[in-house]
Amino acid sequence: MTGQLDQHGKLRHLLTLDGLPRESLIPILDRAKHFADDNDDRSILAGTAVCTLFFEPSTRTRLSFQRAAQRLGADVLNLDAATSSTTKGETARDTLKTIEAMGVRAFVVRHHEDGAVAALAQAAENGTSVINAGDGRSAHPTQGLLDMLTLRQAKGHDFSKLTVLIVGDVMHSRVARSDLHALRALGAGEIRVCGPRSLLPDDATLEGCIVTDDFDAALDGVDAVMVLRLQRERMEEGLVASLDDYRRDYGLSETRLRRANPDAVVMHPGPMNRGVEIDDVVADGAQSLILKQVANGVAVRMAVLEALLSG
Ligand code: CP
Repeated sequence: MTGQLDQHGKLRHLLTLDGLPRESLIPILDRAKHFADDNDDRSILAGTAVCTLFFEPSTRTRLSFQRAAQRLGADVLNLDAATSSTTKGETARDTLKTIEAMGVRAFVVRHHEDGAVAALAQAAENGTSVINAGDGRSAHPTQGLLDMLTLRQAKGHDFSKLTVLIVGDVMHSRVARSDLHALRALGAGEIRVCGPRSLLPDDATLEGCIVTDDFDAALDGVDAVMVLRLQRERMEEGLVASLDDYRRDYGLSETRLRRANPDAVVMHPGPMNRGVEIDDVVADGAQSLILKQVANGVAVRMAVLEALLSG
């Protein structure tokens, strides 16, 4: 997908990590590291208004974007779709254009439809930036970036020796897609993908990955396990037999985790289904980086806002 670069090749919108090379990702990750070390600079976006526009629920992404914008000195507006005029039939496009007419030049948008955020970016005026906070099953680029920052902090900058496992409902996961794009761009040594066959895409998404439905075998010797949320509605679609079956075959327990390298790290984008895809003792254990991911979400979003909106 294109349309996120301006005529000089600079990022204007952030819609996807697909197609962004290592050279585009590294400066954002380096800058995020600076912000992760508690460096605030409220002059960077002073006088800039940032609006979060969420047509789907969120805790982490929405609040961390708000926090990130505040730490850079921006004015922050939050539109809750459930109490907005979208409930009277106003379209997402008209909503964005209305807020844009108030002088807002930055939008952080989550939408349930694939491509909806890119369509809003196309409708935006020159000088307005749109950031994808998750669209359908397509992309969640800032989650991909914060996961890479977390992995870098834990395992160093050279990903070429790393074996990374992504497990769960890959088919419906925008997080998995953005993680896969970023891991490939950063040269991850081996990427394994595991889940029930009914939840694994059989298209180009998994190109170059080692794909299996055997979680125990997939865990052998990995350096990082990225657990995905089981989207419970998939049971209604008949793609998963039961939560018990899922937990038995794909739940990350303490015993199972012992198959990974002793210093392997555990990640999960949240929100978690504790006792389904991950056990409490693992989620809260010494190898878990889950709250570190949340903290890094603020830093990465600061770096993204700065890259798109400053100067
Ligand atoms: N990881 C993530 O996107 O979480 P939220 O849905 O809470 O934003």
